[in-house]
Amino acid sequence: MTCARRRTEMAARARDATAILAICGGMFFFFDADAESGDPGDILPLGVGRELVLSTCSACHSIRLVAQQRLSRETWDETLDWMISEQGMPRLGTRDRQLILRYLSTHLNPSAPR
Ligand code: HEC
Repeated sequence: MTCARRRTEMAARARDATAILAICGGMFFFFDADAESGDPGDILPLGVGRELVLSTCSACHSIRLVAQQRLSRETWDETLDWMISEQGMPRLGTRDRQLILRYLSTHLNPSAPR
């Protein structure tokens, strides 16, 4: 890592080392802010089942990965199966699955606004 190496080289000169640390820290902060600006919940439309989708689907990846899709109900259904069979998502209860599927196909379907 460039930052770590630079930091070691500069360690002898304490004042410079502090400056490098500040720059590296600032860069990490910048990348963080870029990846998730603000509350990740901001990007899912309001609706029944939203909280469940947020907590279930953000366990492994950004909720953005979900929110940016526009899929039919059938494709969402297949996506849920894929998450369970291939990606290690715990099997959902019948009621939760229905709520999640209804939310996704209502708010993130191909004719939903972007
Ligand atoms: C146990 C972990 C886990 C959970 C929980 C999970 N996913 Fe995923 N999901 C993954 C992984 C891993 C990938 C990346 C798969 C790949 O691209 O190979 C992924 C990718 C995706 C993608 C992108 C597919 C594409 O075409 O690139 C979508 C959409 C998605 N997940 C939807 C969901 C939804 C909706 C939920 C909640 C109901 C969910 N995921 C919950 C692990 C998970």
